[in-house]
Amino acid sequence: MAVEHLVIAGKSGVGKSTTAANLSAALAEKGKRVLLIGYDSRWSSTGILCGGNELTPLPGWQGEDAPLQALGHAGALCLEAGAALESGAATGGEILTHPLIADYDPEYVVHDTAWEPAGSFTLPPGIDGVSRLLAVTSADKCALQAVNDIFAWLNTVASAECRFGGVVANNLSGPLYEAIVSDFASQTGAVISATVPRSITVSVSDFYSQTLLQSAPFSHVSYAYRKLARDLEKSGEKRRPKPLSSDALSNWAQKWGDIITELETGVVKDGLGI
Ligand SMILES: Nc1ncnc2c1ncn2[C@@H]1O[C@H](COP(=O)(O)OP(=O)(O)OP(=O)(O)O)[C@@H](O)[C@H]1O
Ligand SMILES: [Mg+2]
Repeated sequence: MAVEHLVIAGKSGVGKSTTAANLSAALAEKGKRVLLIGYDSRWSSTGILCGGNELTPLPGWQGEDAPLQALGHAGALCLEAGAALESGAATGGEILTHPLIADYDPEYVVHDTAWEPAGSFTLPPGIDGVSRLLAVTSADKCALQAVNDIFAWLNTVASAECRFGGVVANNLSGPLYEAIVSDFASQTGAVISATVPRSITVSVSDFYSQTLLQSAPFSHVSYAYRKLARDLEKSGEKRRPKPLSSDALSNWAQKWGDIITELETGVVKDGLGI
């Protein structure tokens, strides 16, 4: 089977590393060979998937800028590439074609991307072949705006080799937040592949440096990641969403501002109480 690159993208803090680590764990528990690559100096996703296992330099590199690797939960391989790529100590191509990676022969490479400024989305370096992008978002306007930018990128020629894997709606505190993301998805024609509630079990897994599938295997949240893994394995490309224009996005945000204000205050826009 050819390797498939799963690119986890979205605004800073929306839950990309949480998604990347737990999706990797769910795929690995299904017996898949999974390589998780992190691009952030805090090792947010690899630290969780590797738990206490020490990350050591990939053979051929030394020092603090070396790409680091360790085996993690359910045999998944974890790789931290951020420092190496930033300093120029290694290229994405060198890392992805390294003999240790070739021997491991991953079926999925999960890329926990680092946040990039608005409108400048690019795939992680070194990807050769099929990739699938998952857009992670909360119900915040900034997070949805970043997803809208990603949708715009998905409609450029640069994304021709990249499929769309759907939206991961994360950190939702209740039905109102779910309604906001689901309305945005329907306005853009995007499919929601996973809905993950805001949950204290996520913080607990962080405290334990474990994936949710280890610290809370029977939780609702773990179930959501298992379902996402199953969906990715079974289904092909989702239809490509169309981004909203900046005017349409402002009107959409205004509409939700009004809906929430009316619900919170009981005062409808014309000043009448409800
Ligand atoms: N569903 C959730 N419920 C509760 N807390 C969550 C949830 N998802 C993520 N978090 C918490 O939010 C914080 C940010 O999550 P995470 O590190 O996954 O985001 P990120 O998008 O990778 O951030 P960055 O852009 O900085 O890399 C973490 O402390 C994480 O534990
Ligand atoms: Mg992160």
